[in-house]
Amino acid sequence: MNYDKFVLLFSVATLCVLFGLMFMGGYVSASGVGLSCPDWPLCPNGLAPSAEFLIEYTHRTVAASTGLLVLMTMVFVLRSKNSMRSTKVISIIAATVVFGQIALGATVITERLHAVLVTSHLALGLALYSSLIFVVINTYYTNLRLKSSSASATLSSDSGFASNVKRNSVGYSPNKSANL
Ligand code: HEM
Repeated sequence: MNYDKFVLLFSVATLCVLFGLMFMGGYVSASGVGLSCPDWPLCPNGLAPSAEFLIEYTHRTVAASTGLLVLMTMVFVLRSKNSMRSTKVISIIAATVVFGQIALGATVITERLHAVLVTSHLALGLALYSSLIFVVINTYYTNLRLKSSSASATLSSDSGFASNVKRNSVGYSPNKSANL
């Protein structure tokens, strides 16, 4: 698998994990368990999960993993020499937003689910999701462009061979040899 295809698959995987995290966040909010783990950064049991705050604990844990995945996506995009400039810029924005979102999540807890903060948490999550969709679509088009340019390179080298054959066959035409 070439590097740009790997970047595409990695960014799609990151987008899927982010989708799961946002789904989970909606569930935390709708089921009213947002303050089941009232401390930050760890829950009362430390690193060990507990049945009373399992959903909120999972939301935090998956958020930490998502932060890492978004950061890695940015690094991979920046390291690719074929990435578009816009993809690089948006992946840097996504990595900045994901850490802002984690900090905002912590504030949502410390400010006891203030409505403005919870709404901002939702809005920033949507901004993050949109920016990752942008990265995925751009990376997809980068792969498509590379595929079509390698296909046209093969075609032009083939037509070069074909024209050589034609030229040679003209050189060996019976009429020409008769003239000699
Ligand atoms: C990339 C990181 C994160 C994303 C994308 C994310 C996304 C979301 C979303 C979409 C919701 C639902 C909001 C709503 O329905 O109004 C939510 C809820 C919530 N999130 Fe996060 N979250 C992230 C990280 C965190 C972190 C690190 C915490 C911190 C402890 C946190 C705490 C919460 C809480 C407490 C709620 C429920 C709020 C309520 O009860 O209304 N989130 N999250």
